[in-house]
Amino acid sequence: MKKLLILLVALPLMASAAAEKVVALGGDITEIVYGLGAQAQLVGRDTTSNWPPEASKLPDVGYVRQLNAEGILSLRPNIVLASEQVQPSTVLQNVAGNNVNVIPVPGGYTPAAIDNKVAVIAAALGKTAEGEQLRQKVAAQIAVLPKTALHKRVLFLLSHGGMGTMVAGQETAADGAIRAAGLQNAMQGFAHYRGLSQEGVIASQPDLIVISADGVKSMGGEENLWTLPGLAQTPAGRHKQLLIVDDMALLGFSLRTPQALLDLRKKAQQLP
Ligand code: HEM
Repeated sequence: MKKLLILLVALPLMASAAAEKVVALGGDITEIVYGLGAQAQLVGRDTTSNWPPEASKLPDVGYVRQLNAEGILSLRPNIVLASEQVQPSTVLQNVAGNNVNVIPVPGGYTPAAIDNKVAVIAAALGKTAEGEQLRQKVAAQIAVLPKTALHKRVLFLLSHGGMGTMVAGQETAADGAIRAAGLQNAMQGFAHYRGLSQEGVIASQPDLIVISADGVKSMGGEENLWTLPGLAQTPAGRHKQLLIVDDMALLGFSLRTPQALLDLRKKAQQLP
């Protein structure tokens, strides 16, 4: 009888000890883990996982585009939820080779990508009912996004990680976000990011500049941004039209993205 009592008391402890230990690689993924109420399973995250703020307290295994397997394995996870952004690609093979269940979370730069991510993460963490609820909530937010085009040209600037200022071309999250808000990417004709050039900026004639809060900081403030070559010769530069965003909210294509897209659209609608 006494043994049975001890067992009954110990059972929940044993169950929690056996619970999956999860490392989330990608800020988009971490937001969804919290959205599903599964954060107790998290034992680590990458540097872009800065939302919700308490996620920053988890051990950081490094920047999603520059990871190493040792940092991830040292947290002894059972599951790694891996964004498409993870680099170098050998890291995940290495982690999987150590008996870790590596689950690729689909990427994509359209609002529909959010639903796919929630579905995969909910299934991986056994949160089916919570997943269904969250998917419905996201679907309702996506349903109210603007469907009409607004002819405003947006230039997204990236300035971080010690790089010079870069501009977003096609096949970037920035391009996807601009289009999802019914606007046009001012930079056309190339994929990924490119160094900012005076000719490129003048030719692109943006109506609005979008940059992250950290980006503005890394430039030493908004005054410096307006001195970037060519900007003064564009509508955005002449009217000082700037939207400072939380990059992971707008570009993560996760739970905060629908609201960030609405904010971008609203700003574009207020342009002269
Ligand atoms: C070690 C410091 C970092 C370095 C060297 C770095 C490097 C880069 C590079 C090279 C790109 C361009 C990728 C491409 O061509 O597709 C990029 C994009 C990006 N990075 Fe970082 N980064 C750093 C830190 C961060 C941090 C801390 C965050 C977020 C908290 C972040 C968020 C982003 C975002 C949102 C993009 C844009 C993705 C897109 O529009 O497709 N980065 N980074």
